[in-house]
Amino acid sequence: MGKYVIAGNWKMNKTPAEATELISAIKPLVADATCDVIVGVPFVDLQAALDATKGTKIGVAAQNCYWEKSGAFTGEIAADMLRVMGVGYVILGHSERRTFFGDTDATVAKRVRGALDAGLTVILCVGEYLEQRELGITGEVVAMQTKIALNGVSEEELARVIIAYEPVWAIGTGKTATAEQANEVCALIRNVLTDLYNETAAKAVTIQYGGSMNAANAAELLAMSDVDGGLIGGASLKPNDFATIVAAAK
Ligand code: PGA
Repeated sequence: MGKYVIAGNWKMNKTPAEATELISAIKPLVADATCDVIVGVPFVDLQAALDATKGTKIGVAAQNCYWEKSGAFTGEIAADMLRVMGVGYVILGHSERRTFFGDTDATVAKRVRGALDAGLTVILCVGEYLEQRELGITGEVVAMQTKIALNGVSEEELARVIIAYEPVWAIGTGKTATAEQANEVCALIRNVLTDLYNETAAKAVTIQYGGSMNAANAAELLAMSDVDGGLIGGASLKPNDFATIVAAAK
């Protein structure tokens, strides 16, 4: 299966000075990590994060980007701007973007296109709302989100796509999907990738679980056959908890 990747999603937390401090605390704790480690920080913290992670294997992610290269798009940040400053990753399609800021499957797909064209690696978030799970349409929802976002993405480009399965009802709620629920949907996503590409390409993709993953439940989730990592919100702001999750990703 894909390479293990543990990514922190800091959301709208930490000033640049606080970002430097948090990364300094995380750095020694993850120095021996056998998985890839990424911190996803607010735009204004990117330079501080790049400086603080210099000389380490910790990658830096932005939490969104726009698809046009420049122009009259007040408040947006171009994928190229991120790439030029040395950012390697971008989180796209997070449910908070979809729910609060109007991101749709169609605009997420455009953002994915822009990010891949700029040379970034994408962490693409997909996941169902509670009502959709209760209706029994989780598979359809997640498959549709995945297919639309990857429309036009070549097999070669797929090597720069990480998929994060994040059931919306589990994000920031303290309610984690069971390891079986997480694995079932991650496996389903891999089947979608097999249909779109082929089995070899699908197996190589890192599929993360996200949603209240923490130091106590990470090992069980990460032991599942199709869970190749985690996208961590709340626990990524706590150095020891984040490091415990990183250590569990073997
Ligand atoms: P959480 O957030 O770990 O705080 O639930 C996960 C995410 O939104 O990526």
